[in-house]
Amino acid sequence: MGLDGIDLDTVPRHVACVMDGNGRWAQRRGLPRTDGHAAGEEALFDTVKGALELGIEWLTVYAFSTENWKRPVDEVRYLVGFNESILVRRCDELDDLGVRIRFSGRRDWRVPKRLTRRMDASADQTRRNRALTLTIAFNYGGRAEIVDAVRAVVAEGVRPDKIDEKAIRRHLYDAEMPDPDLMVRTSGEHRISNFLLWQLAYSELVFTDVLWPDFRREHLQDAVREYQRRERRFGGVDRR
Ligand code: IPE
Ligand code: IPE
Ligand code: MG
Repeated sequence: MGLDGIDLDTVPRHVACVMDGNGRWAQRRGLPRTDGHAAGEEALFDTVKGALELGIEWLTVYAFSTENWKRPVDEVRYLVGFNESILVRRCDELDDLGVRIRFSGRRDWRVPKRLTRRMDASADQTRRNRALTLTIAFNYGGRAEIVDAVRAVVAEGVRPDKIDEKAIRRHLYDAEMPDPDLMVRTSGEHRISNFLLWQLAYSELVFTDVLWPDFRREHLQDAVREYQRRERRFGGVDRR
């Protein structure tokens, strides 16, 4: 089917993706959960290429939540190392594709310096690229992001009656990031799990049973088709 049936003039500008189901994918094959995370790399790169083909400008992927530290230490250690290793091995490839890499999330004591250094280097290397902005949400929590934004507003000395949505928006982790038009979650779970709470206020939500390691650009295209069948109203009335 390819891009058939997709109107390239109205593709979502920003797609957010909850990459879920790696553990179940592995379990079904009798493999350790970490093999599922490893298999997710191919899904991520195919999705990036699919986003580039469609002309999607922003792609934000949930790689590790503020709650994922609760997982067994071995899995956490694997995920931290895996995220670093993807940047080491594949940053040049993303750079060649014109991808601008950014990160979103809390930089607290739990995130090793080695990883933050690698994040900064990848963001710096790719900062001039404009084909697609790929934001990797790592140690990201939507509630934490809102708390951090409010703290920053208060630290600026803004009077309580002057605190408005714009002031908070300005202090989110990436002030330039537009709100997602479409959020896709894999693995059949129908929840947000603390992802982009502020930004998803009016996003279209699409859920698929496909497990993340099996996700490919065709599934992204399906989600975009579904998005284009929706009618966004933003609280108003349809005036078509
Ligand atoms: C998503 O897959 C990856 C991360 C949360 C890091 P899971 O590891 O949550 O896989 P399931 O949901 O247990 O199958
Ligand atoms: C959300 O998935 C976080 C990421 C994909 C990184 P989880 O697997 O952690 O979410 P829950 O626990 O099912 O809500
Ligand atoms: Mg999960």
